[in-house]
Amino acid sequence: SLQQHIPKGLKSPPGPRGYPILGNVLELRKDTHLALTKLSQKYGDVMEVRIGMRPVLVLSGLETIKQALVKQGEDFLGRPDLHSFRYVADGQSMAFSPDSGEVWKARRKLAQNALKTFSIAPSPTSSSTCLLEEHVSKEAEYLVTKFLQLMKEEKSFELNQYLVVSVANVVCAMCFGKRYEHNDQELLSVVNSAEQFNNVAGAGYPADFIPLLRYLPSRSMKAFIDFNKSFLSFLQKIVKEHYETYDENNIRDITDSLIEQCLEKKVETNTATQIPKEKIVNLVNDIFGAGFDTVTTALSWSLLYLVTYPDIQKRIQKELDQTIGRERRPRLSDRGTLPYTEAFILEVFRHSSFLPFTIPHSTTKDTVLNGYYIPKDRCVFINQWQVNHDEKLWKDPETFNPERFLSADGTKVNKEEGEKVLVFGLGKRRCPGETIARWEVFLFLSTLLQQLEFSVCDGKKVDMTPIFGLSLKHKRCEHFQVKQRFPMKSRN
Ligand code: HEM
Repeated sequence: SLQQHIPKGLKSPPGPRGYPILGNVLELRKDTHLALTKLSQKYGDVMEVRIGMRPVLVLSGLETIKQALVKQGEDFLGRPDLHSFRYVADGQSMAFSPDSGEVWKARRKLAQNALKTFSIAPSPTSSSTCLLEEHVSKEAEYLVTKFLQLMKEEKSFELNQYLVVSVANVVCAMCFGKRYEHNDQELLSVVNSAEQFNNVAGAGYPADFIPLLRYLPSRSMKAFIDFNKSFLSFLQKIVKEHYETYDENNIRDITDSLIEQCLEKKVETNTATQIPKEKIVNLVNDIFGAGFDTVTTALSWSLLYLVTYPDIQKRIQKELDQTIGRERRPRLSDRGTLPYTEAFILEVFRHSSFLPFTIPHSTTKDTVLNGYYIPKDRCVFINQWQVNHDEKLWKDPETFNPERFLSADGTKVNKEEGEKVLVFGLGKRRCPGETIARWEVFLFLSTLLQQLEFSVCDGKKVDMTPIFGLSLKHKRCEHFQVKQRFPMKSRN
């Protein structure tokens, strides 16, 4: 690297030598998580690679990542100013914009409060425990009916297109008090092009690091920009409707509660911060955007593992039958009583590591990590995939085995083991939707599996090879089938 002033006694992190101009981009372009995991075995938990001319710090190892994101949390909570991120929510995103100062902190708090009120807080108006339970139960029940109908009509089907609408409906209900039909073209065009986002937002997208590439025509970049535009206008339309029908005595959903925050002048009066109005209401973009593709991907991988390992599926169903029975539907409060189901979900998170990296971080000041000097504004990749497959932490990490999370007698989830799984990030940028996401995945899966047995058509195999991006996806599978496990009772 160029001459850099490094304080005495400290060194720069080690890393592979790269080509001039390109750096290490060629070796990192495909399956970036695997390439960086391999390099970390040679260079260590604190490593520096170059993508184009730009140095990137790559962190591996659970202890090192905790040291950076938790113990030195303030130093590592920034976001890099990446070219592609400027197109997310017009550059105003709480999750992707480079802002990580007082405004970001205040926005994050507002988002967390609004999220909580309309998901897991006890519901005064509903017979369910909370609104999240009500929404997920309803959508999962709809999916059961839909899948059975598809079996009658088509004999097999593709799962994802139905999952994505159901999961989007849950976050839509929280954000907008609104639900869409499964053939709603406007919603479908938004949720189905989320893939365009995923491709470009994955760690190490070359045009973010090599300015020259921005001047060459790029199909993926154009699709990314188009997606962000139509996503924004889809949301702006709904927000506008909310302003027009807003009633301070009837706060209907997250959007209303954010509008309420804008109208209340007392927001963060103790700091110099005056958050611009738009930056409060458009938090709904971050919440909606982060809330549907991630959970859909989690469910989609879960069902893929279940059809690949039918014995595991049977064991979950046995547990559901024994603990909940068939007379009533699963509830969120059942979660603590279904250790095998819980262990399965943890193993899906670990083994798939479908968010292989967090959103990139950057340093907010010059700092030192494990004795290495790291300058301010250094882009940082957090390799979650490496942690979840680290031989120092896991026995046979490549084996899919939910039992690794159970106590010796199989009656409890081993909490410490569960906490080693890294998919929601850690520290000050840790996913604010984590609790919601874990509950949602649990309730969707337990409701589906209580009633349905999933499989693929005879002679078909599912392809579990992950496709790299912000989240790891699998190839489309058109051959899903379901069988009803027992005659359906009408509800209640
Ligand atoms: C950020 C994981 C679901 C809202 C993140 C990050 C990860 C993550 C890894 C980045 C952390 C970092 O940069 O260090 C997941 C996973 C999910 C999930 C695995 C599902 C299984 C959700 C849901 C919501 C949500 C359901 C909201 C309803 C957010 C927001 C951020 C975020 C707003 C940005 C936080 C910030 O930059 O300060 N999530 N998430 N996530 N997530 Fe989630």
